[in-house]
Amino acid sequence: MTVVRFLKADGTLDKEVEAEPGQRLLDVAWAAREPLEGACEGVMACSTCHVIVDAQDFEELPPASEEEEDLLDLAAHATRTSRLACQIVLNEKMKSLTVRVPPGAKNWMGR
Ligand code: FES
Repeated sequence: MTVVRFLKADGTLDKEVEAEPGQRLLDVAWAAREPLEGACEGVMACSTCHVIVDAQDFEELPPASEEEEDLLDLAAHATRTSRLACQIVLNEKMKSLTVRVPPGAKNWMGR
């Protein structure tokens, strides 16, 4: 079980939810009704699932693929700890994961 904390763009807590190993962060965000678009639903054809990961948690994640890095170059408000939520799969070792939804993120798919 991983405690996932979603922060607003201003850094305040928006939601805290529990998620199972094997779940993608994008799916956890959608279930929590976070404003992450995820337009391509994880086939690496957009960057609308961009999240900014807490600096300490970022170090614990498996590194981003080259393809993910390329897409992050297109993401608005990208930082050194930016990742694509569709590429983060929770595992048993992750007790908690804190991410910030970038300013201006929206969820036009209504999830
Ligand atoms: S949903 Fe498109 S790259 Fe993550």
